[in-house]
Amino acid sequence: MLKRLSLVLLLTLSISCTQQEKKSSYQVTSPNNKNKITFELTNGIPAYMVAHGDKSVLNKSHLGFVFKGQDSLSHNFDIVKVDTTSFNETWEQVWGEKQFIKNNYRQLAVTLMEKSGAQNRKLEIQFRAFDDGVALRYIFPEQGLKDSLVIMDELTSFNLNDDGDAWWIGAYQDNRYEYLTTKSPVSSLDTVHTPLTIKSHSGLSLSFHEANLKDFASMTLARISGTELKCDLVPWADGDKVKTNGSFTTPWRTLQIAEKPGDLISSYLILNLNDPNKLEDTSWIKPHKYLGIWWGMHIGKYSFWESPIQGATTKNAFEHIDYCNKLGIDHLLIEGWNKGWTPAWYENAMHMFSFTNEADNFDLKKVTDYAKEKGVSIIGYHETGSNIINYLEQIDAGMTLYENMGIHDVKIGQVGSRLNMKEWHHGQFGVNYYRSVLEKAAEHQLTVNFHEPIKDTGERRTYPNMMAREGARGQEYNAWSDGNPPNHTAILPFTRLLSGPMDFTPGVLDVEIKQGFEGRDVHTTAAKQLALYVVLYSPIQMLADLPENYDGHPAFKFLQDVPVDWEDTKVLNAEIGEYITTVRKDKFSDDWYLGSLTNEAGRSFDIDLSFLEADASYEAQIYADAEGITWNKNATEVSLLTKEVRSTDTLQLRLAEGGGTAIRFKKL
Ligand code: NOJ
Repeated sequence: MLKRLSLVLLLTLSISCTQQEKKSSYQVTSPNNKNKITFELTNGIPAYMVAHGDKSVLNKSHLGFVFKGQDSLSHNFDIVKVDTTSFNETWEQVWGEKQFIKNNYRQLAVTLMEKSGAQNRKLEIQFRAFDDGVALRYIFPEQGLKDSLVIMDELTSFNLNDDGDAWWIGAYQDNRYEYLTTKSPVSSLDTVHTPLTIKSHSGLSLSFHEANLKDFASMTLARISGTELKCDLVPWADGDKVKTNGSFTTPWRTLQIAEKPGDLISSYLILNLNDPNKLEDTSWIKPHKYLGIWWGMHIGKYSFWESPIQGATTKNAFEHIDYCNKLGIDHLLIEGWNKGWTPAWYENAMHMFSFTNEADNFDLKKVTDYAKEKGVSIIGYHETGSNIINYLEQIDAGMTLYENMGIHDVKIGQVGSRLNMKEWHHGQFGVNYYRSVLEKAAEHQLTVNFHEPIKDTGERRTYPNMMAREGARGQEYNAWSDGNPPNHTAILPFTRLLSGPMDFTPGVLDVEIKQGFEGRDVHTTAAKQLALYVVLYSPIQMLADLPENYDGHPAFKFLQDVPVDWEDTKVLNAEIGEYITTVRKDKFSDDWYLGSLTNEAGRSFDIDLSFLEADASYEAQIYADAEGITWNKNATEVSLLTKEVRSTDTLQLRLAEGGGTAIRFKKL
């Protein structure tokens, strides 16, 4: 590992004084000198700008805070200290989409102090310039002020030089992040969640988000005028934004900058801005694929609650364990195994789930013992119904029970419009709740898959038991609503997935959902369902369909083969909301996998295979849309073809409307 932390002389300082204006300005550039951040203090007011090459990305943008019952911290400053440093290291992920990640940046840290006023408060602002974007954060040090410092507003703004197309979901909605993405000009936005991805009129692809969100409110973005966006902190129910003990460090406010949309996906800036792994022993953390007693509940075949069609019975669990064993899938999720489920479980109310008592007809010990015998690991499930008071009273007992049963993975749901029917999922209360559950799970050697989560800001680097989360409309919407249109999965890689792995639950090969509700459909071809395993990265991937739909299916081989832990990832072609082709190299073999998918339009691509090892031959096992099909016509038909290829070859892919292609390149 190469590590270098040094003072660099790349700082450009200019101080100009006129009668009206006193201005100091400092700059820091990324290691490749393309991304440039300029900090300016003009008449005591701080601001910053960002450029990429000769293009301005952010014009003069605001900095500072508004506090409760105290003066704002946004003007009347002097600069007391300026440090520039550089950092270059390569670190290894415990699991991931890329094994070794380069963290190379230059940092400018400016310490400001108020010139006059009773308090002379200090504020440090750190700016980091990476080759793939920029980031800034504030550090308000302990300085003997009042011990209840409450932030009412963060003034950070992002004053975009250009308008462009933005892909967004609106903030402050009851279903959290579970909405279809809208595409509209930046200049038309109201208040939106991050990641907010933009194809700028300047030609750049941009994405705003945040990294290392802890003990703070989430940032949403509110447009204040033209193309200027401003940090909008999600409030507590009492209106406070962030409650502190007199000092605070904000999350990093991030802007990924790419010349091609696909380069946003191979940017690891968010992870690089999180702290290194804190878990000494990670041997119990295992990326995996899993079946579930799950899809059956969503399509109406089974119930979550005790009934003649109860999904979680000992008998049904045994049958699913047998399927796991037969299909070669070593993990099984069982939902609805505990007391507390009722037909109204999803309504906003303080539901009283038990995290230790079994539902009638279900014996957890018998099920885990049988699973062990068959080499299958059970994945536990905690649905809190957003009654966090109830959950936190039982969390130790619930997690200890799993630990005692040899369970190492738990899915944790927070269905409800507000936590405790009161707080936003993404306010400071929620941020602290999710982080504390993650830490507790680590103590019990449990990995976590949050549904109805807080957005991902890269904490999997610090806590690699943070596997995946929902945080967008997943496959389940196809089971019981009008569903996700074909372009949904051509948008997610550039928006939600930029924040981290998603438990999308792909793999429904019975695309017409024959055992489900009338007229429901997954709105993709079956081959596109296979492609999702490569395109939508997650270290845990569900094989969401009913197991009987996999048994004997010719395309199932791909789902058995496809890995969940990768050495490398490349995006070969991509246009946001239109199409994407991703290739990933298996961490434990010489094989590569390709996933290519399209929106409503059919397409052909000539794929340059130069990512393959030179001088080697591969068997390309191709799972493509059958001739003449579309996502809503004969969509289940997959054509299987094998072909010998080399790195010097070009391979033609043909994707049906709403279709896709999945390929295993098996090294010969
Ligand atoms: C919503 C989750 O997304 C889904 O996966 C789960 O089955 C239900 N809640 C029940 O908890």
